[in-house]
Order: sequence, then C-alpha cells, then structure tokens
Amino acid sequence: MERYVYINDRPVVWEDEKNILELARKAHIDIPTFCYHSDLSLYGACRLCMVEVEGRGLVTSCSTAPFEGMKIKTHTEQILKLRKTIVEMLLANHDQECPKCSRANDCKLRDISNRLSIDKVRFRRTRQAKPKDLGSECLVRDPNKCVLCGDCVRFCSEIQGIGAIDFAARGQNVSVAAAYGKSLAQVDCINCGQCAAVCPTGAIVVKSHIPQTWEVIH
Ligand code: SF4
Ligand code: SF4
Ligand code: FES
Repeated sequence: MERYVYINDRPVVWEDEKNILELARKAHIDIPTFCYHSDLSLYGACRLCMVEVEGRGLVTSCSTAPFEGMKIKTHTEQILKLRKTIVEMLLANHDQECPKCSRANDCKLRDISNRLSIDKVRFRRTRQAKPKDLGSECLVRDPNKCVLCGDCVRFCSEIQGIGAIDFAARGQNVSVAAAYGKSLAQVDCINCGQCAAVCPTGAIVVKSHIPQTWEVIH
C-alpha cells in the first residue's frame, strides 16, 4: 500500500526517501540548501532548508524523517523571511567581488539570493576578513567567500579519505582552513580538486594559469 505525505497540500508518495528534503525534490519543489549533500554525512548547519510541519513547527527538512500523513509547508511567509535573513547574514560576511570571481556564473549564493529577491543586505560584517591561501599549485582558497557549509571538509575526509581541511576556531571566528592555519600546499592535500567541485561559492576554486600561459605564448 502506498504511503503519502502532503507538501503544500499536494499528496506525494513516500517511498524510501529518508528526509523531507528528498521528498520535496522528488515533487519538484525547490527548497534551497547549502550544507546538504546526499553522498555525505548529515551536517544540518545552514538552516536554509527549514520547512513547517503541522504539529511540530519549523524543522530542517534535510534532517527530518517523514512520517505517513505528514503535512508540510515549504514556502510560508515566515519561512521565506527566515531564508532571506540567513542569506543576508551570509552576504554580509561575503566578499562581494562577483564581477572578478571565477564562479560568478555558477555561484549558489548568488543564485539563491536572486531567487529570494534579495536586493539589499541589512546586516554588518561580523567575521574578520582573512587572507587568501594562494600557496597551492592548483587551488585558491578564499575564506571571505565561504558560507561554512562544510561540504569541502566532509568530501575531503569522507570520500577522498584525506582530511586536509577542517573547521578552525569557533563562534564568530569559525572558518574552514588547512591544519594549523597552514597553506593547502603545506598539508596532505593531493590537489584532487574535489573540494572546489563541491564548493557552492568561489571560496575554493581551481587556480587559473591563463596569465602565465599568455606570457609563454608571447
Ligand atoms: S584538493 Fe582534494 S585533498 Fe586537497 S583539500 Fe581539496 S578535497 Fe582535500
Ligand atoms: S570552502 Fe566552500 S565548500 Fe567549504 S565550507 Fe566554505 S563554502 Fe562550503
Ligand atoms: S541543508 Fe538542511 S540545514 Fe543545511
């Protein structure tokens, strides 16, 4: 017998989806996320994926298991306000040099901001700006564009089995960094580039060698 949940009053068949987010995606309902990656362990930190469950209130859809007959709202006024606030706080701490960023046309932060119609940021920067890590032959890490989703940390450790990067410090000073504040070039990084591939912003990007190539050509 089929089991159902109700998302925005629409019945959705619940098969083996382990959380509300996957059910919503199956129903083509767009819930923004930063820290959910189906191949990685659950992190549940960005809170962007909040939805409202009847009888329970607001929950993170990526970490909440469905139950039969569950009634879920994904885009109430309260939820949209909450998502906007979260994204504005991220933008307040983000180096907004989009025209110069190599991820300008493929940035999840920019995309979600547009989808939420964010045209101004009401908050001030709370995190101190940090220097870029330019030491690696292959990658550039810019902590000032990091949204702290942790995808790179979990990918490097859980899939690649390396653990070259991790969260450093806590509270307002939290950041993602190579061990002991070193450069990626000085730790066990194998330059596989998987952290750059999962990064939703320009916080880790593949280093461009175009200027050097032009120099050689000329
Ligand atoms: S390039 Fe590979 S090994 Fe280096 S930090 Fe990124 S995921 Fe880890
Ligand atoms: S560097 Fe990118 S993938 Fe890693 S935590 Fe920051 S935003 Fe997420
Ligand atoms: S995607 Fe659910 S908390 Fe980040």
